[in-house]
Amino acid sequence: MESELARLRDEALAALDTCRDDADIEALRVRFLGRKGELTGVLRGIGELPVEQRRVIGETANQIKTLVEERIVALRTRWQEEQRARSLAAERIDITIPGNQRPYGSLHPLLQALDDTVAIFTAMGFEVARGPDIEDDYHNFAALNIPADHPAREMQDTFFIAPEVVLRTHTSPVQIRVMESRQPPLQIIVPGTVYRCDDDVTHSPMFVQLEGLMIGKDICFAHLKGVLTAFVHTMFGPDTPVRFRPSYFPFTEPSAEVDMGCVICGGRDTGCAVCKGSGWLEVLGSGMVHPNVFRAVGYDPEQVSGFAFGMGIDRISMLRYGIDDIRLFYQNDLRFLRQF
Ligand code: PHE
Repeated sequence: MESELARLRDEALAALDTCRDDADIEALRVRFLGRKGELTGVLRGIGELPVEQRRVIGETANQIKTLVEERIVALRTRWQEEQRARSLAAERIDITIPGNQRPYGSLHPLLQALDDTVAIFTAMGFEVARGPDIEDDYHNFAALNIPADHPAREMQDTFFIAPEVVLRTHTSPVQIRVMESRQPPLQIIVPGTVYRCDDDVTHSPMFVQLEGLMIGKDICFAHLKGVLTAFVHTMFGPDTPVRFRPSYFPFTEPSAEVDMGCVICGGRDTGCAVCKGSGWLEVLGSGMVHPNVFRAVGYDPEQVSGFAFGMGIDRISMLRYGIDDIRLFYQNDLRFLRQF
């Protein structure tokens, strides 16, 4: 019996040495220690042995059982450690290696100028409003005091979709839409895309405008001058000369165009090519909201007053970066766009 046990022990230990993985070990465990295992069989047979042998054999058998179990645990632990060491080595990260450079996109120069413009006006308390690109004749023209025979309605300027439906030629219709749906006081800006049938170095059939509207009880021309001067000074620098030049828009009265000192030549007497020798650059149109516009939206021109302005963001961006062809903004040439 004792020699049988010694044989079992040697066999089990030898077999353990050949184990390669958990499945091998499990097979071995079943073979020796399982319910029908060889060692289990011996242990079970102990009861039938003569009393004097039971204790010795039982002890030996239990020792072997424990020994084999301990070996199994030791083997598994060793494997786990090896496995861990292997993956640590394989997954080692060298944090000193420079990362993969991802190419960054950047904001389009138009969007940059628009974002900055919006930020300047929201800081002054204006809130952003929007309206549809496809407009009806009423909002784009009639409600803005543009009579039926006004030149701005001619085919050369306006893209018509249907006889009474146009691609908006300016953001001013959003003035009407906001006033129709709300009561004064109002202080809004309207960034948006507008469309005109025009295409040369300074005109694109699609371009970006920003409209502004401030309506209240005693809003006057001084407010208009203050707000727009603050805008030019914030956008182009506090020393930029600003002038208000009388002008005409059907929806404002009086109207003024705002010029700033030429960013290229600094407003020298002789001027330059960009300002066409005048020393001044036109940046926006503005004026006090016409009483007829108030009437169209149901406001009482005796009770409220206000000013409106509209500027071309393309133009602001061109002046800011010294770009001389508006079409560059819409051609998506990466050599151009990468410069911003
Ligand atoms: N809508 C005018 C244009 O597109 C600009 C403007 C807006 C002028 C508001 C005065 C007041 O030319």
